[in-house]
Amino acid sequence: MTIEATQETSKILLVDDEENITRAISRLLMEEEDLDVLTASSGDDGLELLRRHPDVALILSDQRMPGMSGAEFLELSRGIAPEAVRMVLTGYADISLVIDAINKGGAARYITKPWDDGMLVQTIRDGVKQFRLILENQRLSALVQKQNEELKEWNSNLKQKVMEHTVTIRKQNEDLAEKNRQIGESFKGIISAFSRLVELCGRSSRSHSRNVATMAIGIAKDLGLSEKEQEMIQTAALLHDIGEIGIPAAILEMKMSAMSPEEERVYLQHAVRGQTAIDAVEGLREVGVLIRHHHEHFDGSGFPEGIAGEAIPLGARIIAIADFIDREMANQSGEIALNMTLSKVLNQQGLQLDPTLVKHAKRYARYQYFAPTGKQRDDVEREYQVSELTSGLQLTRNFQSGTGLLLLAKGTILDWHKIDAIKRYYQIDPPQGGIFAITARQDGD
Ligand SMILES: [Fe+2]
Ligand SMILES: [Fe+2]
Repeated sequence: MTIEATQETSKILLVDDEENITRAISRLLMEEEDLDVLTASSGDDGLELLRRHPDVALILSDQRMPGMSGAEFLELSRGIAPEAVRMVLTGYADISLVIDAINKGGAARYITKPWDDGMLVQTIRDGVKQFRLILENQRLSALVQKQNEELKEWNSNLKQKVMEHTVTIRKQNEDLAEKNRQIGESFKGIISAFSRLVELCGRSSRSHSRNVATMAIGIAKDLGLSEKEQEMIQTAALLHDIGEIGIPAAILEMKMSAMSPEEERVYLQHAVRGQTAIDAVEGLREVGVLIRHHHEHFDGSGFPEGIAGEAIPLGARIIAIADFIDREMANQSGEIALNMTLSKVLNQQGLQLDPTLVKHAKRYARYQYFAPTGKQRDDVEREYQVSELTSGLQLTRNFQSGTGLLLLAKGTILDWHKIDAIKRYYQIDPPQGGIFAITARQDGD
């Protein structure tokens, strides 16, 4: 039982059949302002009073009383006020009665009659102090228990909240990853759009940027470069001539050997202009460095820095050799043209071109300009309508939009993805006529 004890006043219950004794002790305690004294003249009266005041701090009972003894009364009082401090007052040095009062009645002290006033008051004060300590102890225990329960509750709420947050964060991460993927796709789309813009500029109906990119990425793979490096080289290859935008078409259409020194100076500016053009895009800065150096020569005779050998970034050397081949192959096709181009490549190894890249470049040039399977085709070319296209057909002519934009290069093998793109092109900028293709054959056919 928890008793709301007021620290200001504590109740004292005096039980004695001799009224002069209760009166005498009451008088003694009158001085003590924080003590409120109740008196009873028998055990029964005492119990009755206790029922009305169960918050009594201290009970002092005479031992020898008619009817109920002090020990019996104290014993019964424990059921009503268990926390109260009990004391017994005895005029007889009867040890067995005192033992009873202590063992049964739970008496903490016994006081003999006649008493010393000062000592009695001090004993009562000590008892009250003990009672207050007991109550304070109970209050603190209850508080600790309550706080423990609250803590437990908070803990489980916290766990729940952490779990909820984890789910939310995971979901946000997934959304973010999806958005990143979309941004990546958009970025690739934009690069590809720019690359076509470059192809439209000055060079009629060619797929120069894409040819260079296809060869460059093949060489990069052969060299075992990381995916990140391959991607960077591919992007640089697609955009390597972006600086040609704005250079007069007349200059762009010339072979370098036919240019005047001034025309050559203007033409070669495109490497630096290209880097400058994309410099605003932070993700393309490294790509910009490759673009800057794609006209450097291995022997240091190139442009714009005139750096040589491994001082030229590897990606730029790869793009340079692919660019060399594709420019030589411009408006040409067939094995003879390819062989002539490759012999020029051999002549330039160590001069304009990095000799370590030649064997890889030769291999990918064959893929690019001769036949993807390494075999000549003898199939009959046929014109297909869009609805007739199937996966596996190989284009025999460049596929251009109605306004002349090169959409898919000759040699491209169609898959469903490309067929879908062709259907879209037919809606936005319809080409005239159909699509020329042969059935692509697999190795060993
Ligand atoms: Fe170039
Ligand atoms: Fe180029």
